[in-house]
This record gives sequence, C-alpha cells and structure tokens, in this order.
Amino acid sequence: MNPEMWHTVDDYISSTLIGPDTALDATLAASDHAGLRAINVAPNQGKFLHLLARIHGARRILEIGTLGGYSAIWLARALPADGALISLEADADTAKIARDNIASAGLADKVTVITGLAADSLHELIRNGTAPFDLIFIDADKSGNPDYLRLTLQLARAGTVMVADNVVRSGRVADRSSNEPDAVGIRRYFDMLAAAPGIDSTAVQTVGIKGWDGFAISIVSDPAAASAALR
Ligand code: SAH
Ligand code: DHB
Ligand code: MG
Repeated sequence: MNPEMWHTVDDYISSTLIGPDTALDATLAASDHAGLRAINVAPNQGKFLHLLARIHGARRILEIGTLGGYSAIWLARALPADGALISLEADADTAKIARDNIASAGLADKVTVITGLAADSLHELIRNGTAPFDLIFIDADKSGNPDYLRLTLQLARAGTVMVADNVVRSGRVADRSSNEPDAVGIRRYFDMLAAAPGIDSTAVQTVGIKGWDGFAISIVSDPAAASAALR
C-alpha cells in the first residue's frame, strides 16, 4: 500500500482525462470557503458516475447526500435537456451552498435539492407518487443505507441502477469486529442486496485521493419482489 502513489496516479488520471473545469473548481472552492468537509467524490470518480449515467441513458437521477453539489453537478451534466436530478441533503445551510453551486454551473433548471433527513424526503417522494428514477446514488450517512435501499426500491423500476459510495471504508466493511455505524450499515446493505431477489449487485474497491474505499453497484430487475423480500 502506498497512498502517496495513489495520489500521484489520481492526479495523473484527472489531469490527463479530465482537466480543469471552471464550474467544478468553483464548487470545491465555495464549499471549502463555507467550511464544508472535503468528502465529495474525487474528480475521476465524479466522471465515472457521469459516464455511468450516460451509458445507462439516465433521464431521472436521485442522489442521497448533496454536500456542496459536486457529484450532483457531474451527474446532472449527463442528463438530456428534459432530464431531472433530485438530491437530498439533511443540512439546510449545506443545501443552500449546493443550490448556489449548481446554479453557477448552469444546472438550476435540472436539479432540485430537497432539505431534510433523507428518509423523510424519500417517504414524501413515495407518498407523492414520484416517477421512478433511472439511477440512484446513495452517498449520505452510511448507517442509513439499509433504510435508503428499502425506500428507494419504491422509487425504482425494472432497470434502475443503484450506486452506493464508501462501501469499503479502509477495509472496515469486512472487519466483523468493527461496530462502527458506517461499517455496520454497509454490511447490512450488502446482506440485503444479497438476500433480495430482483436485484443484482457487485462492489469494487478503489484507492486514490479519497484513500481506500469503494462503490457498490446494482441493477434492479424486479423492484416489487426486492421490496417484498426486504420488508
Ligand atoms: N455526494 C456528495 C458528498 C456527500 S457527503 C459528493 O460526492 O459531492 C454526505 C452528505 O450527506 C453530507 O452533506 C451530509 O450533510 C448529508 N447527510 C448526512 N446524513 C444525512 C441524512 N440522514 N439525510 C440527508 N443527508 C444526510
Ligand atoms: C466520508 C467520505 C465520503 O465520501 C462520504 O460520502 C462520507 C464520509 C469520510 O471520509 O468521512
Ligand atoms: Mg461519499
């Protein structure tokens, strides 16, 4: 393990394949200025999410955990002109910063940031009969992942892709002696993915400027069957 090399390679990848980006750079600067923790996805991870959304042809995206809007901007840029992204953020001040950043990036017409605990907002979206999402990115409190899976399945269709960030946590996910809420939440999330019919999943580990972590990725084929099994 050589975290210094992980940084060097991430910088190499991002400088060769991504390069500077006025709106995203301004988003990180404004987020830093506002005192937000720099726990947004890395540039190459943001572009990975963006490409995934384009590969999938996503028109409706749901994000759980907005922070300053960095990943939301990457994802929203993948949308067609009439596409929409809804992002859920618990903290009202953080949500305001994100809305400002998203507006500066020219994406205000496609993105809605909803303030409130994600579980409450998800219940509200379900109650309102919100149309299903094509892509769902789960990236808030990891202890909430089991709830977010149960709830987002009610906002999914056959073909919905789900991605969860931070599922490795420097290996803690596989350390059964770790009782940290994030590790426990992620293990429960994995167990639920494994147990439910109608959803196929894997996870990949990542190293880079975010340390040692990973993404879980799933495709839902039968949201009703998955929901029923997880009740
Ligand atoms: N997706 C962002 C990073 C999100 S960081 C990016 O990559 O750019 C996690 C965010 O989830 C934080 O802003 C935090 O305030 C928010 N959060 C934590 N618990 C939450 C909850 N229960 N409901 C909604 N948002 C929550
Ligand atoms: C942390 C990193 C994340 O990407 C995230 O979504 C939440 C927390 C962290 O490093 O603490
Ligand atoms: Mg994250």
